[in-house]
Amino acid sequence: MRKQIAAANWKMNLTSVEASQLLNELLATPHSLQAHQEAIFAVPAIYIPLAVEKLANQSNVFVAAQNCHQKSTGAYTGEISAPMLASVGVKHIVLGHSERREYFAESDALLAEKLNAVLAIDSTPIFCCGEPLAIREAGTQNVFVEAQLKNGLFHLTAAQIVKVVIAYEPIWAIGTGKTASSEQAQEIHAYIRSVLATQYGEAIAQEISILYGGSVKASNAKELFSQPDVDGGLVGGASLIATEFAAIINALK
Ligand code: 13P
Repeated sequence: MRKQIAAANWKMNLTSVEASQLLNELLATPHSLQAHQEAIFAVPAIYIPLAVEKLANQSNVFVAAQNCHQKSTGAYTGEISAPMLASVGVKHIVLGHSERREYFAESDALLAEKLNAVLAIDSTPIFCCGEPLAIREAGTQNVFVEAQLKNGLFHLTAAQIVKVVIAYEPIWAIGTGKTASSEQAQEIHAYIRSVLATQYGEAIAQEISILYGGSVKASNAKELFSQPDVDGGLVGGASLIATEFAAIINALK
């Protein structure tokens, strides 16, 4: 079975004390991970060492970054590179979140460069895609997402693409409390997998985990994750509450 993943995206939330408390609460809340399951915490960069230390003894639990720069070193004041993140214990890096595409003007071409940087150090990119409301209302979400995949990802070789995790996050469902129905999620996840199969072959497409993001909560996780092409979730708001996120981990198939 391909990897099933519960990924927390804390975004720009929590003080250091709150971050520490949340991790302690999570460690104290019953949750279990089987061999094919992972929990990933994309914490603000400044809390990475704290999270790495607190989660050090947990198996199948990883600390991720929410972004990185495309270059490995240099005069880029305020930026953090993929090798720097790897050097403090990061194994996964979220790329192309819709908030970064929208508020920081990250283009597909820039994301393609960032992917190369992450893969060059053998880390796992969690590549985000997903359409805004107007596109969903026009019914053209498949074409929109396919273009994001082609422009951002399809320069990768087959050996590289199998290392990527894809997160489909419809923008209209992020932080809105509005979740895609499990049928809507399954439909577009299956489409994404078919696009991957056309480009790389069915066997490779079957290996790639595709996470759903957008108002995932304890109450809807099981239903969403039960869909055959939904391999877990990328979770914002609900990942800031230990009992919610533990339940989301426990909802993985
Ligand atoms: P919410 O779970 O808060 O809707 O956020 C989803 C998201 O953007 C995760 O990356």
